[in-house]
Amino acid sequence: MTHPRRPVPGRSGVLARRTVVATVPFALAALLGAAAPASATTTGPSGVGDPYFPLAGNGGYHVAHYGLTLRYDPASRHLDGSAVLTARATRKLTRFDLDFKGLKVTALTVDHVKAAFRRDGQELVITPRKALRKGEEFRVAVTYAGTPQQVTDPDGSADGWITTDDGAFVAGEPQGAMTWFPADNHPKDKASYDFTITVPRGSGAVANGVLLGQRTAHGQTTYRWHQAEPMAAYLATATVGTFQVQQYRTSDGIQVYDAVDPREATAAAPVLKKLPSVLEWESKLFGPYPFRSAGSIVDHAPDVGYALETQGRPLYDSAPDLSTLVHENAHQWFGDSVSLTSWQDIWLNEGFATYTEWLYTEQHGGKTAQQKFDALYARKASDGLWAFPPGDPGSGADIFGTPVYARGAMTLHELRKAVGDTTFLRILRAWATDHRYGHGTTSQFVRLAEEKSGKNLDALFHAWLYSDGKPATS
Ligand code: ARG
Ligand code: ZN
Repeated sequence: MTHPRRPVPGRSGVLARRTVVATVPFALAALLGAAAPASATTTGPSGVGDPYFPLAGNGGYHVAHYGLTLRYDPASRHLDGSAVLTARATRKLTRFDLDFKGLKVTALTVDHVKAAFRRDGQELVITPRKALRKGEEFRVAVTYAGTPQQVTDPDGSADGWITTDDGAFVAGEPQGAMTWFPADNHPKDKASYDFTITVPRGSGAVANGVLLGQRTAHGQTTYRWHQAEPMAAYLATATVGTFQVQQYRTSDGIQVYDAVDPREATAAAPVLKKLPSVLEWESKLFGPYPFRSAGSIVDHAPDVGYALETQGRPLYDSAPDLSTLVHENAHQWFGDSVSLTSWQDIWLNEGFATYTEWLYTEQHGGKTAQQKFDALYARKASDGLWAFPPGDPGSGADIFGTPVYARGAMTLHELRKAVGDTTFLRILRAWATDHRYGHGTTSQFVRLAEEKSGKNLDALFHAWLYSDGKPATS
């Protein structure tokens, strides 16, 4: 498959980009589009200025907490929801947006006062009765209902509230969160979450974080979940189905909750059993596991075709193999705890999670990372692996392409060869530690690698992350 390429700003590479950031921030902001500072405007922009997903996220405020109350009936596919967002205005706001698609909004208040709203594609445009002052904390309550509709991502995959034969596989990367709750739907804005999910007795409802309680009354079961550590909206889930549940604590005190579709149970059991040892191994490499909760949601969703690193509890469309389990849990450090600032930097998630698979295999008696690298490097120049550089996929359609995963991992392998094993692991660990619960960018990673190694690595990263075609290797 050939990847249609579209020139985007910032293709000139790490060096050039770094200069731009350091010297002309306003030019950069303008380049990035909608997020340019607009102190005169009091209407929050409809996106945070991510060129890959221009409408994703919203400007003018940050969300601190989402309180989601959902009631879902798998038989009728009807969802009743209410979302209470606690946010803070970063400028004076006479109007602001949330990302929300499909479901009917039946009531909306800002600070308990009815607010005017309209729908405009994926934007829920809200005009509070009284303008919000810069720095003011405010509360938005949205009540909604209907049949959630999944969205199709630019790469053709289903995303969002994806109906299954016994419930819903609820994923959100990169866009799907807006199909089931109103959000500032960009990884730039992370918040804590509470979920209260009611489903018919016999169904399970699994979200992120720790299970606070579970109660059955009048044929309905309500599950209460709490996600304390900051989370990007795309990592939220509220997966519904028939599940076998297992709960335990690891020796590090992490609360594990596994929910497995009975049809996947036999195949999943031997892999899920390895989770504590995988997390322990990853913690040794990258520093303490970032969350209180861990586990797996193994659904039976044959049409989905991917797994997702939902925070604190990855979501699988079928019984995962060990590599997939290692990959999704590596994302807990790389992607979930350390979040993207821009979707273009997706290799910081996928390249790192893929390289963790390689390291795991290497340290558990399998092929070495060098062997994996060599097998990939042997692919001819016309292979899809070299279709575009991983640091610049070009558009949202390619963020989950092979170059992002495989050439992204190869980039880390080149770095490892350049700086040596000890320094390489020190860099990965520092990355996870320094940006824990926060954000990172590619140029910050390059800077960190240079600091820790004392080497100039611009040529390496330029070749592997930003240059077209097959790079030369050292
Ligand atoms: N981050 C997920 C994984 O690697 C992939 C998500 C794919 N999503 C999509 N809409 N294609 O592990
Ligand atoms: Zn991944």
